[in-house]
Amino acid sequence: MTAARRRPFPFATPAAFVALLGTASVGVSMPARPVENAPPMPEPATTASPRDPVTRNGTCEGCHSEIAAEWGTSGHKNAFADRDFRASLAREPLPFCRGCHAPEADPNQDPPADRAALGVGCVTCHSPHNGPGVLAVPHTTPPTGVNGHRANDALVSNADFASEKACARCHEFGFPDSIRRGKPLLMQSTITEGANSGIGGTCNDCHMPKVEGPGGTPHRSHRFSVDETMLKGALDVATTRTGEHVTVTLTSRGVGHAFPTGDLFRRLVLTLKIGEKTRKIPLARAWEDRTSANGSLRVLAADTRLQAAPVTFTEESPRPVEWQVTYERAASRTDSHGRIPVALFGSTVLARGVR
Ligand code: HEC
Ligand code: HEC
Ligand code: HEC
Ligand code: HEC
Ligand code: HEC
Repeated sequence: MTAARRRPFPFATPAAFVALLGTASVGVSMPARPVENAPPMPEPATTASPRDPVTRNGTCEGCHSEIAAEWGTSGHKNAFADRDFRASLAREPLPFCRGCHAPEADPNQDPPADRAALGVGCVTCHSPHNGPGVLAVPHTTPPTGVNGHRANDALVSNADFASEKACARCHEFGFPDSIRRGKPLLMQSTITEGANSGIGGTCNDCHMPKVEGPGGTPHRSHRFSVDETMLKGALDVATTRTGEHVTVTLTSRGVGHAFPTGDLFRRLVLTLKIGEKTRKIPLARAWEDRTSANGSLRVLAADTRLQAAPVTFTEESPRPVEWQVTYERAASRTDSHGRIPVALFGSTVLARGVR
């Protein structure tokens, strides 16, 4: 791959934005082979779960204890309890948010404590809407000893469950007002980014690695953890100096989508410091409201996150250039002028150096 030279915020072109949106439905809608009586793929809630999801989830946990322990530490279990989610929900208390972060409860009201604590549970993914059947991945040799899986909890194998379809309804979605208008403007676009990345592989290849639990049962991990080690491993930084020109090239490594992906306020920030002079370059998405005869419309004004191609930034300085890349979770948006909001939920230094 050749180094693409990209200009920092706010110069990303509207054409790039149009190109991105133009492909918004690629990869999400491969026709599914119909499976008789199969539960649908997991998705956010629009109504309360019909069966008691907390009790039923407890039965899964009782038999699948290793997986339950992994899930217990995951962001999925913590999806509603999450401190940062709660802070955001307080600002925007929408049923829309609750439907995804507490998918076993009625999204129109605050969830009862036990359903809130369940977050995205076993039943949410394996038995969408807590209906009959438990989704599983087809095997050439079916698992034995499935005594817990009779009647309403019978295993239903569906190859879609091993694909990004198991994640798509929650990990790709539009702003609520844009959905109402019938032209979704994506707030999270992980699936489309994945389809466009050319990296290949499914979400589960990277996010559900095969592990052997303490009990020695091989299975796919349900931790879904994206920790500091994974973030650091996903970034490659190369610097060169030619006379007075210093270039910093950022490349993402083994990431099946944009880096960062997911929540709209995540971003990377490259800081270049020469003496007392500091330049901060956000690699993020920025939205802005554009007014026209038809009223105000929110658009994606720029997307400078790391994609499959490397990005290069250049500084001219005879003096040493200190560089640093941080992964930041902002509490609000980076605007289209590249002004970086001060309030952060979290920040991690991924790499730094001097050239
Ligand atoms: C975020 C969605 C999600 C949640 C939450 C979830 N699962 Fe899974 N689970 C999956 C997917 C997807 C697979 C199939 C992965 C594959 O093979 O590609 C799977 C696989 C499994 C398997 C087969 C494991 C193997 O690899 O042999 C079991 C058993 C299982 N899950 C049980 C549970 C239990 C019990 C819980 C709750 C403690 C749970 N799951 C929570 C999505 C989820
Ligand atoms: C009475 C014990 C019991 C209960 C309750 C139970 N399971 Fe299982 N389950 C098993 C056993 C045993 C197997 C087969 C061996 C294995 O894969 O762990 C199995 C298999 C599975 C599989 C397929 C594993 C594979 O290899 O593809 C999935 C998925 C699964 N269970 C999910 C769940 C979920 C979700 C719940 C709750 C709704 C649940 N189970 C409740 C005992 C139970
Ligand atoms: C019912 C909706 C739902 C489904 C289905 C779902 N997720 Fe999630 N996922 C969430 C929510 C909500 C969060 C945010 C949790 C939080 O607030 O930290 C999340 C967080 C994550 C994270 C980040 C965890 C972290 O520590 O930052 C990963 C990775 C992830 N999901 C992967 C997957 C994959 C892979 C699948 C498909 C197998 C999947 N999810 C299916 C709703 C879902
Ligand atoms: C080739 C490996 C790979 C594939 C495939 C992949 N991811 Fe990731 N994912 C990563 C890496 C590495 C990171 C950490 C870097 C980043 O945040 O982008 C990550 C980060 C994430 C995060 C951000 C969590 C956080 O806390 O910042 C989410 C959510 C996520 N992935 C979901 C998905 C979903 C959904 C799919 C399937 C469409 C998927 N990923 C496919 C490797 C992968
Ligand atoms: C269709 C599903 C869906 C809807 C609707 C949704 N979210 Fe999320 N949310 C997710 C997923 C998936 C993630 C994980 C991606 C990531 O970690 O970057 C997430 C992550 C977050 C995070 C970051 C959590 C963390 O630990 O850093 C916050 C904050 C958040 N959402 C707030 C909200 C708010 C507020 C709303 C309503 C305005 C909302 N979400 C609506 C699916 C959803």
